[in-house]
Amino acid sequence: MIKYITAGESHGKGLTIIVEGFPTGFPLSEDYIQEDLARRQRGYGRGGRQLIEKDRAELLSGVRHGLTMGSPISMFIPNKDYVNWGKVMATEPVEDPGNTVTRLRAGHADMPGTIKYGISDVRNILERSSARETAARVAAGAVAKRFLQEFGIEVHSHVINIGGVRSKYEHPVDWEKANASEVHCIDPLAEAEMIKIIDKAKEDGDTIGGAVEVVATNVPIGLGSHVHYERKLDARLALALMSIQACKSVAIGEGWEAADLPGSQYHDTLEPIAEDGKAPAGPYPTASGPWHRATNRTGGIEGGMSTGMPLIARFTIKPIATLAKPLPSVDLVTGKTVQAHFERSDVCNVPPAGVIGEAAVAFVLADAFLEKFGGDNIDETSRNFNSYQKTIGPRSWVATDG
Ligand SMILES: Cc1cc2nc3c(=O)[nH]c(=O)nc-3n(C[C@H](O)[C@H](O)[C@H](O)COP(=O)(O)O)c2cc1C
Repeated sequence: MIKYITAGESHGKGLTIIVEGFPTGFPLSEDYIQEDLARRQRGYGRGGRQLIEKDRAELLSGVRHGLTMGSPISMFIPNKDYVNWGKVMATEPVEDPGNTVTRLRAGHADMPGTIKYGISDVRNILERSSARETAARVAAGAVAKRFLQEFGIEVHSHVINIGGVRSKYEHPVDWEKANASEVHCIDPLAEAEMIKIIDKAKEDGDTIGGAVEVVATNVPIGLGSHVHYERKLDARLALALMSIQACKSVAIGEGWEAADLPGSQYHDTLEPIAEDGKAPAGPYPTASGPWHRATNRTGGIEGGMSTGMPLIARFTIKPIATLAKPLPSVDLVTGKTVQAHFERSDVCNVPPAGVIGEAAVAFVLADAFLEKFGGDNIDETSRNFNSYQKTIGPRSWVATDG
């Protein structure tokens, strides 16, 4: 239903984003998009690049007088650092551009990329495989988030693990607390340990990974479908999250723990609630109808469809491949042993990964939402949504045929 495409290199002129397929008539502004771009740039353990950039997406089309027009939304995020890279990244031929990279980094796209594309300067690969591209994804995700907001759907994230230090938390999570934390972690004890681990990695010329949880609330029942692999909501989320640079595993809800528990302890049993529609007290009151579950291990998805419970996706981020104390490697040109290439780099990229994960989840949800409710105008989408919401409940409660 909706799609986006990004273009741009890490040290090129900037990032271009085209977002397509959203209805007309919902508010969107550069300031709104800016909030998430700024959040992506924050986080303990980020490198010097974030001091240079102050990302802002310029809206070039698709929005008029503060409202979406239904036409493609295009944006441009300039790379401030380009002034230092004009010759290296020139689009015109230049004599002796400098900064050729041949020392391969294990864990980055360097080796498979140069061999696949038949080139002898790793820069042609690293410029695009760099996670600078995630600024563009966050801008696209912000459009999706703004759309979802019209229906009360919110997407947030927090860091749950850095270098093996796990956050102790319960749902519902205090998102303001997560945002206020330097490592986007709501557990102060874990936060202090995480910061220590990042400091130690920096001191050692090392890097550190971790895990993030993304939560979407007020997701209506029935986004996605059970009927085909590519319509399953969990499969679509897995693709969107796994494609984030350095992401190495994705789980929906307690997907990693599913291997450990018997069915009697794993499944989120359904409980009836009173006819006044009120759910019993508990950590997971559903916003989407008269169904109650005391637990949410399945992370709000069953059979490839949303259950109305908070949608929970977790993913791991491996430690960054560019080490200040480089690993032994091989030179692409000579084939001889060398130290891997080092270029200004983050030590820990887990806190920003959460913001990128939110964008990925928001885009998938907006897509599934529009697939179910359609509409070329936001009012039309709302009418369709509201009429569907009235059909939710035990079949004996609701008239579904009109
Ligand atoms: C927010 C973020 C920042 C990143 N920063 C760096 C970095 O500074 N240096 C680096 O080598 N890799 C960084 N990465 C990871 C690489 O982009 C990634 O490992 C590389 O593209 C290879 O892809 P793969 O890890 O998925 O195989 C970052 C990833 C994210 C999500």
